[in-house]
Amino acid sequence: MSTSTKDSLRGNRPVDDIDFAAAEFQRDPWPSYDWYREHEPVHLSQRYGAYFVFGYEHVRRVMTSPGFTAFHPFRVSRRAFGPTMLDQEGEHHARLRSAAAAPFRPRAATEFGRRVVAPLAEGMLDDLLRQRRGDFVARLAERLPMAVVCHVMGLPDGDSGRLRDLMRPLVEYVDHGTVSLEEVVAARGELRDYLRDALPAGPGADGLLNALAENGTLSEADVVNTSVLLLAAGTETTAAGITNLLSRVAAEPEVFRRLSDDRSLVPAVVTETLRHEPPLHVTLRFASRDVTLGGVDIPEGAPLQVVLASANRDPAVYPSPHVWDPERTARTPLTFGMGRHVCLGMGLAQQELEIVLHGVLDRIEELELTGGPLATAQGRTFRAVRDSECAYRLRAVSDAGGTT
Ligand code: HEM
Repeated sequence: MSTSTKDSLRGNRPVDDIDFAAAEFQRDPWPSYDWYREHEPVHLSQRYGAYFVFGYEHVRRVMTSPGFTAFHPFRVSRRAFGPTMLDQEGEHHARLRSAAAAPFRPRAATEFGRRVVAPLAEGMLDDLLRQRRGDFVARLAERLPMAVVCHVMGLPDGDSGRLRDLMRPLVEYVDHGTVSLEEVVAARGELRDYLRDALPAGPGADGLLNALAENGTLSEADVVNTSVLLLAAGTETTAAGITNLLSRVAAEPEVFRRLSDDRSLVPAVVTETLRHEPPLHVTLRFASRDVTLGGVDIPEGAPLQVVLASANRDPAVYPSPHVWDPERTARTPLTFGMGRHVCLGMGLAQQELEIVLHGVLDRIEELELTGGPLATAQGRTFRAVRDSECAYRLRAVSDAGGTT
């Protein structure tokens, strides 16, 4: 491309290069994604020394083709969680994934949702509403996902606060936070000791932790690392999904009323919110050989930042992609990834979000964000509405009713 052509494009270019740390990007990454998707759908970032992939078709190819791998011995998630299914391929990946799969199969996840998630979510909601304070982030979104994963693992409910604190440095480290590797190593050491102590429950005991230990094909390190991965993967993302969902329905009073009358819309509202404001914007791959993508030659070993969120707003797949429209019937969004590493917990996550929305609709007649017309999601790779303080009017007319 000639310099003059480049300069003429620069006028519309929102940033010189992708910069996750820039305040403007964290507040509103969508114009950057739009620009790159249209002009450079496969972009070599000098700042990160990585190729960024923005278009739906290119993202789909990277996630599904053997020309790209999730394996790299030094990738950040591996430093945080240890080697896990997230960064393994082939037989080792298949073994780790199948050892953990049972509770996440569709029928098991639905049954678990009804038996465990619904009472947990309802208890937290009742607790929150009784306090007459609408801080959905601290009282529901950040609590429920860890409580759910603890139940899946067979860990005591009472430990979820401590586990959330221990997981925080690991999650922030993966999200390019300012946490040092020393802090991560210390938290991981504590997690490992905690999980080892929780282990000798013996055959027949409930929970995935025990099932992993009894599986017979996994080393102790595999058991610990898989558990740490599940504690991380199932919590930050789902918490963000819950706040993004509640802030969205609070911002759409008409939709909230329609949902109250017709609960069959709940799954579509959840799916469209996850497309429009996905909790996890980016994942990582590496070229497993020299490969050409979107006309760009990528050398073997090069890292690719795969921008799932940008693919979710590709106008070639989703007409008027920035419009939140629960009635769309387009292809499945890439919120949970695609291919052999597609999110193991996606059925459970969808359940959690639907259950929370049903719980809110059962109890609340009107919901309104007090932080502005629509609190915006913020963050780098994990993006969530951080402040979802709401005003609400309870459905039941009782002495607990009224607007907070
Ligand atoms: C809204 C919530 C969630 C979102 C947006 C989400 C997103 C994702 C994405 C995009 C991937 C693929 C990463 C890649 O290919 O590099 C993934 C993988 C994974 N997720 Fe989720 N996730 C969510 C909830 C959960 C839950 C609830 C669990 C389990 C408790 C979970 C467990 C996993 C695991 C184990 C993997 C690795 C799968 C593999 O590598 O084979 N996730 N998730």
